[in-house]
Amino acid sequence: MSLKDCYNFEDFRKLAKRKLPAPIFHYIDGGADDEKTLNRNTVSFDECDLVPNILRSVGEPDLSTKLFGRKIDMPIFLSPTAMQSLYHPDGDKASARAAEKFGTMYSMSTMASFSIEEIANLSSGPKLFQLYIHKDKSFTDDLIDRCKRANFDGLCLTVDTLVAGNRERDHRTGFTTPPKFNFESLVNFAMKPGWVFRYLTNKKFELANIKHKTDKGTTITKSVIDYVNEQYDPNMDWDDAEYCIKKWNGPFALKGVMSVEDAKRAVDIGCTAIIISNHGGRQLDGSRSPFDQLKAISDAVGDKLEIILDGGVRRGTHVLKALAAGATACSFGKAFLFSLGAGGQDGVERLLQNMHDEIRRNMILMGCKSLDELDRSKIIFRN
Ligand code: LAC
Repeated sequence: MSLKDCYNFEDFRKLAKRKLPAPIFHYIDGGADDEKTLNRNTVSFDECDLVPNILRSVGEPDLSTKLFGRKIDMPIFLSPTAMQSLYHPDGDKASARAAEKFGTMYSMSTMASFSIEEIANLSSGPKLFQLYIHKDKSFTDDLIDRCKRANFDGLCLTVDTLVAGNRERDHRTGFTTPPKFNFESLVNFAMKPGWVFRYLTNKKFELANIKHKTDKGTTITKSVIDYVNEQYDPNMDWDDAEYCIKKWNGPFALKGVMSVEDAKRAVDIGCTAIIISNHGGRQLDGSRSPFDQLKAISDAVGDKLEIILDGGVRRGTHVLKALAAGATACSFGKAFLFSLGAGGQDGVERLLQNMHDEIRRNMILMGCKSLDELDRSKIIFRN
């Protein structure tokens, strides 16, 4: 099996599984507790149907939209995800380059393995930075200042990770940052010699954006769960969000909004966007899926800010459904990380090409020339 055999999510997932050591594969693939929410995120798209229009002379549909003040050429982008160099040595460099090539947004995690400056130097494409608020508040100012200097287009603040979700797969595999090669984990790594060779012969793993502030996760090995629980501020509140908005003074989103009430408050404090997300089902198991919440949130605030739907997106038709229900664009994490693990930049490019082709083809089949034609008249919810 190779990249040319990857047509859909499951193909990329299979190929990534072949290449990545089990603790790393399961860190991407897993969710919290019983993974009910993780699974629901995708299943929820199946409970509504698209309604096409005919004979509309669609020609070449326009897939572009505007997000965080930048035009993007397709309505799906790469979610901010941590430690990408574990999936491929080029990590964020590969994803930023692939995103730029397809004219879509790359997003960088606070926990990235390449720095804000490194990625800004190699890509002038649209870039979003994802912020975690640490107990030590000097992290926040440092990261926002650097994103400003590096001309990132937008900032998002993750609000659903005050403590780490119960990721039982990580407990079982002993996943840590950086990866720990001990007696227990050795067999997992020994089974993937190609990965071990690339890991040992490339740039040393680090949490590049924060290593000057803490050794934890860079030279001091930590499970992600321990890192989150020790470092992130569980007392984060609306004042912290407002502080970030004022300091950043540019396009800003809260990432992890799930309720109508919070979406309205996001408008009140000056957010220009919200990312409806449950962190890929990795945090509160049993919470609703982003798609299940989208309609109500869009009815309440859809004319006041950009709405990004993050979670469970696997197919071009999922994007079409999200846009018809009221989203401005979608983002995906797991799908893109599997493509990165499967083939580095080439893998991400193949995934984005597949998604582009699926969205384009299905727009034509829907009879839509542009994304704004995807409205509620194009979707029926069965219940
Ligand atoms: C995670 C955090 C680090 O989901 O975003 O693993």
